[in-house]
Amino acid sequence: MCGIVGYTGSREAAGILVAGLRRLEYRGYDSSGLATVDAGRLHIRKRAGRVRELENLIHRQPAQGSCGISHTRWATHGPASDTNAHPHLGGRLGTAGLALVHNGVIENHASLRRELEAEGFVFASETDSEVIAHLIARALEKTGDLFTAVQLVLPMLEGTYGLGVVSQAHPGLVVGARMGSPLVVGVGEGEHLLASDAAAVAPHTRQVVYLEDGEIVQLTPGKIEIAHRERGPVAPRIDRIDWHPDLAELGHHAHYMIKEIREQPMTLVDACRGRLSRRDATACLGGLNLSPRTLRKIRRIVLVGCGTSAHAALVGEYLIERIAHLPVEVEYASEFRYRNAPLDERTLVFVLSQSGETADALGALREANRRGHPTLAIVNTVGSTIAREARGGVYLHAGQEVGVASTKAFAAQVAVLALLALYLGRLRHLSFSDGLDIVDALESAPGLIEEALKVEPIVKSAAEQIATARTVLYLGRDLLHPVALEGALKLTEISYIPAHGYPTAEMKHGPIALVDRDSPCVFLAPRCSLYSKTLASIEEVRARGGHVITVGTEGDRVLPGLSNTFLPIPDAPEILLPLLAVIPLQLLAYHTALKLGRDIDKPRNLAKSVTVE
Ligand code: AGP
Repeated sequence: MCGIVGYTGSREAAGILVAGLRRLEYRGYDSSGLATVDAGRLHIRKRAGRVRELENLIHRQPAQGSCGISHTRWATHGPASDTNAHPHLGGRLGTAGLALVHNGVIENHASLRRELEAEGFVFASETDSEVIAHLIARALEKTGDLFTAVQLVLPMLEGTYGLGVVSQAHPGLVVGARMGSPLVVGVGEGEHLLASDAAAVAPHTRQVVYLEDGEIVQLTPGKIEIAHRERGPVAPRIDRIDWHPDLAELGHHAHYMIKEIREQPMTLVDACRGRLSRRDATACLGGLNLSPRTLRKIRRIVLVGCGTSAHAALVGEYLIERIAHLPVEVEYASEFRYRNAPLDERTLVFVLSQSGETADALGALREANRRGHPTLAIVNTVGSTIAREARGGVYLHAGQEVGVASTKAFAAQVAVLALLALYLGRLRHLSFSDGLDIVDALESAPGLIEEALKVEPIVKSAAEQIATARTVLYLGRDLLHPVALEGALKLTEISYIPAHGYPTAEMKHGPIALVDRDSPCVFLAPRCSLYSKTLASIEEVRARGGHVITVGTEGDRVLPGLSNTFLPIPDAPEILLPLLAVIPLQLLAYHTALKLGRDIDKPRNLAKSVTVE
């Protein structure tokens, strides 16, 4: 999950590359570097740590040149260090005139490394990526042409790559190649950019070309040339991106995560915009590309995702089964793609992914497609690989989500799944009036989320209790079981406190062994059909001296007396409870991590888009 930025044009490259890396830093941030080409010379600058370390280095040691490549790393092979940072130099000792950046994993790197070392190539790093640099340098000795050299090398590689390559012997030329890791070209006026994500090119141009797997591109200031490994020359497919610079900025917020938590009322508005029909008491989801006649024949739905997307899918399971009476299965993408799940022509598969680039989710999509199964996507990032390879789907319209811990994307995914449930239900048995109740509920959601956000001051005191916890249990039933899982993931990934989510009643089948004063239990207990059963579970914890935090309905007269801290959410229709109950849990994770001084937007060991298996 690294970030790549390349540039060739008439402007100085270094500043453009570093600014681009900053926009991609959420993809990986343990080290970074750049290479520029100027007057037949390569300038290499690289540093362990955040992009700001690289920026400081370049202020001290400028890297001239109007052509270059850069990289921010999420380590797969070799720890974060100056040496392992990209770019990697390719060439025999003392003659290295080529620099390469790589996103992905080369599975046969060890055998290729042995082959190259036997021919006298000396390796500087512990990475798999450096192998590619030397292979291209070796091919360049024969071809003299960088584009051809890259084309010769790619078939030797097993695994995934998004590559950027420059050479001191080829001023103004940037070569890129894509297999399994995203790459997009920014088409400017007399300049071209190359990046892992359109966010890095958007400040310079709205015109982009999304590279497909197997494609190689050569860029000069005035030319773009694409070839496919098997199919040969490819005409560039120019897309236009929709990007609003202010939306991607932090504004007055302390972190992207809290900004994105607070954006959720608008997220619901955007996710539902133009998709609710009061006239027909249903949802309008044109992107599914499947007729009502086809959809009526569906007898089973499989929802596939990773992490938070898998948790949203679990909410979707409850919603679709309850509203549309269709059986739903949720699968972790990494499991789905290898377990050969039985799929028949009446099964509809959806892949959920905020980034649209998650390798496991993409692998699941490709597996379903390979088996001849039309697969749909619910994604946030327009033009992402999953969005482009799916046979249709629904965009979240949540705007760029920068915080590594996913928040507003979860809300948008739940909203879209509720829309899907409504649409499928109204194709079947759901009455007009029941459909209208759901339309009303979804239209009320933004205001209710706004209300739920007011719990933040109380959450701050609860965070004091959580910050010293040995572990935390999150417990929820029915529609709130997935929210318990999501709350546990949020706390774990940004505070590093071990947290576990369970269906509430499961607590007595083992997890209750964890209950003591140092291991708080967070119960999701709003007014709903299973409220009284949850009260019984709370009493079980209290009887063992456990510390209890509850999320409940504003005005509840019982819960506050049973809780060390009571976190109120507004009363709401049951189908909205996941959208509301998750708010205090997101805020709890945020304020606990803040208290512990964690790096909230870039937690250790994580990355925003996991583009490796
Ligand atoms: C969520 O907070 C995590 N950062 C992570 O679990 C994430 O949800 C997962 O990697 C899936 O990402 P995607 O939605 O972009 O596919």
